[in-house]
Amino acid sequence: MRRLIIDTDPGVDDAFAIALAARHPDVDLLALTTVAGNIGIEHTTRNALNLLALCGREDVPVAVGAHRPFSRAVRGDDAHGNDGLGGHAHNFGTSSANLDPRDAVTLLVDLLTAAEEPVTIVPIGPLTNIALLLAAHPGIKPKIERLVVMGGGINGGNITPSAEFNFWVDPEAARRVLVEEDVPVTLVPLDITMRVAVGDDWLAELAAANDVGRELTAMTPGYRAFYKKDTGKDDLIVHDAIAVAEAIRPGILRTTPMMLDVDCTDGPGSGATIADVRNKVDPPNGRVVDVALDADIEGLRSYILDELSSRY
Ligand code: BDR
Ligand code: CA
Repeated sequence: MRRLIIDTDPGVDDAFAIALAARHPDVDLLALTTVAGNIGIEHTTRNALNLLALCGREDVPVAVGAHRPFSRAVRGDDAHGNDGLGGHAHNFGTSSANLDPRDAVTLLVDLLTAAEEPVTIVPIGPLTNIALLLAAHPGIKPKIERLVVMGGGINGGNITPSAEFNFWVDPEAARRVLVEEDVPVTLVPLDITMRVAVGDDWLAELAAANDVGRELTAMTPGYRAFYKKDTGKDDLIVHDAIAVAEAIRPGILRTTPMMLDVDCTDGPGSGATIADVRNKVDPPNGRVVDVALDADIEGLRSYILDELSSRY
């Protein structure tokens, strides 16, 4: 059994990621913690609750996290529609029974403290909650097996030419987690997620497989149109689901150790991932992050589709 906690800002691709973990028989999903990112915290929290209800997992607690980034104003984009789920958030089950009274950091500390073995955390939104956790509770680090982080881009961004969205929203938090702390991190950047785009056939198969697949697919048109402006293709980019796939099946992504930094200025590089790509002979000996840059791309597409399709 893989014990996971997902820190999330749903988000269309977050919805795919949550469904992948919530319905997997080998995953013990301990909680979802929410963060402001793709949309405001009220929406991300409601979406997290409703997605768990859709997946029949109202037993999984949801705790409300940071309402805004570490030291910046809230900023977002409209890729995920005005409700975070492509205008589809009200079309399936509503629930709030599993809304935990604790805030996200408190729930994380309580769950990690109680866990007999270290737990994997999968942050798939801005890193605000995780930075706060590590800053306020450094003693909890040994209880974190690793962080599988969706964020960053070694070779450019999506929200700006240089920055990936999750890092751009809260660069200081990203810097804290990647550079200033010493928790094991696997980074799942745009460099790999953009390559795992899925097309019409994949989506049609998912939609036909079960109710969850049908609802997930219905959320995607606006999000696909948003990316089409950049890629010229109508494909769906399932960024966050790829991080969850790696957390469920470690090694499904091939990683390279790298020393990283995050641009915390306000200039055109704000939120950019800075990778030290010079150390090709000697492995880096500072704080390294395992960066997922490669995978069996077709195998990964099939894995995610099979897992989402196989259960009712
Ligand atoms: C990341 O930003 C959000 O739009 C997605 O949910 C994903 O976590 C991709 O840059
Ligand atoms: Ca996300």
